[in-house]
Amino acid sequence: MKVLVIGSGAREHALVKAIAADPMVEAVIAAPGNPGIDALAVCEPLPRGATHGPDVVAVAAKHGVDLVVIGPEAPLVEGVADDLRAAGFATFGPSAKAAQLEGSKAFAKRIMAEAGVPTAFAHVCTTRGEVEDALDALGPPYVVKDDGLAAGKGVIVTDSRVAALDHADACLSRPDGRIVVEEHLDGPEVSLFCISDGDLVIPLTPAQDFKRAQDDDRGPNTGGMGAYSPLDWLPDGLVDDVVARVAQPTIDRMRHLDMPFVGVLYIGLALTSRGPQVIEFNVRFGDPETQVVLDRLATAVGELLLAAATSQLGEAEPLRWHPDAAVTVVLAAPGYPAAPQTGGLVTGLDEAESDVAYVLHAGTSRDDHGLLRAGGGRVLSIVGRGATLAEARAAAYESVGRVHLPGGRFRSDIGLRAERGEITIPHL
Ligand code: AMP
Ligand code: GLY
Repeated sequence: MKVLVIGSGAREHALVKAIAADPMVEAVIAAPGNPGIDALAVCEPLPRGATHGPDVVAVAAKHGVDLVVIGPEAPLVEGVADDLRAAGFATFGPSAKAAQLEGSKAFAKRIMAEAGVPTAFAHVCTTRGEVEDALDALGPPYVVKDDGLAAGKGVIVTDSRVAALDHADACLSRPDGRIVVEEHLDGPEVSLFCISDGDLVIPLTPAQDFKRAQDDDRGPNTGGMGAYSPLDWLPDGLVDDVVARVAQPTIDRMRHLDMPFVGVLYIGLALTSRGPQVIEFNVRFGDPETQVVLDRLATAVGELLLAAATSQLGEAEPLRWHPDAAVTVVLAAPGYPAAPQTGGLVTGLDEAESDVAYVLHAGTSRDDHGLLRAGGGRVLSIVGRGATLAEARAAAYESVGRVHLPGGRFRSDIGLRAERGEITIPHL
C-alpha cells in the first residue's frame, strides 16, 4: 500500500521510518516532510500549510494513496481528516469534532466528567474575577491553562498568584479567551497512546516525556525535550487499568455523541496518591514520545494504522515489542522555547549515526548550498537504543555529542532518575 504522512517534525520522521519498514508498504509520501524524511519518502510541499484541507486531498489524490496519517494537531482541529474522508481516503486521525478533545480543554473536561474519567478538579473561567475565585478556591501550586491549542506552551504551573494571574490575563485578552484553572496533580507523569477505530482500543507501550526546558524540570514548558521507554517503575496492570477507566469510556462516550474518535488518543497521566489521573488528552501521537515508542514496536505499523482507519482493529494481531530500551534527546535551537534563533549550521550527523543511535529531523532546512540549517525550535531528536535504559541513554548522549549546532541546547537528564531508580509514586 501507499501511505501519506502529514507533518514535518521528528514525530513524522519516526512515523515515516516505521511505516516505510512495514513489508506491506510499497511507498511513503510525506507532506511537507523535512530534509531527514526526504531520504525515506517522496516529499510534497504544502505552501498553504498542512491545515489547508483541499491541498492535502490533492496530494493524496496525486499519489493515489491507500492511507493518510495526520501527525500534528492543527490540521486535525481544522478538519483536514474530514476533508480526506469526504474525498474517499482512509484516514488515521480524528474528525474536527472529535479533535476538540485536544482543541478545547473545557470540552475535554466535559467529556471526562461524562465518561467518569479521573482527572483534576477544574474551573472554566472567562473573566479575571472568576480566575481569582478559582485560584483562591484551589490554592497553590496554581495550574492555569489556555483553553485552546498552544503547542504545549499554554500552561503555567506556579506558586506565584501574580504569575498565575498574569498568564490568565494574557490568555483572556485574546478573542474568545477562555482558561481552565485546575487542581495541581502530584506524582510522576506518563504518556499512554491508545489506537482506536472509534470502537476498540489498543494501547501502545507507555513512555515518559520531559516537558520543561532545563535539567531537573526547571524552566518553561516546551513541546517536549526528550523521552524514554519502557518505564520499569510502573505498577503492574497500569495500562489495563487506564484503558478500562480512561480510554475505553472516552472512546465510548465520543461514539455515543456521534463524534467517533478514529486515531490515537494520547493520554497524559499523573500517577497520584489517588491513582492515575488525566492531565490532558491529545488527539495525535506525542512528540518526542513517539520516537521511542515506535522504536520499540516490532509489529508492522502501517497495517495497524490502516486497521484503525478502516474499523478493523478487531482483526489486528496482538502487538509485539522489542525488550530493548529507547531514549530520545531533543536538540533545540538557542532561545527555545521563548524565541528560537533559526539559521544555525547543523553538522556531524553522519558521525552521530551508529548501530545503536540515529538522528531524526524536526526543525531543519537546507540552504541554497545544500547545507543543513536549524529551521525551528526543536531541531533534531536523537534516538539511542540499548539492552538497558543506561545503555540506551549512553547511546543517545554519545550521538548528541557528535552533532554540532552553535548555541544548541539539550537536557542532560532524560531518563536519568528512572535509571537511578529514583521515581516514586506518592502514597496516601
Ligand atoms: P498540558 O498542556 O495540559 O499537557 O500541560 C502541560 C504540562 O503542565 C503537563 O505535562 C504537566 O507537566 C503540567 N500540568 C498540567 N496540568 C497539571 C496539573 N493539573 N497538575 C500538575 N501539573 C500539570
Ligand atoms: N510530548 C508532548 C506532546 O506531544 O504534546
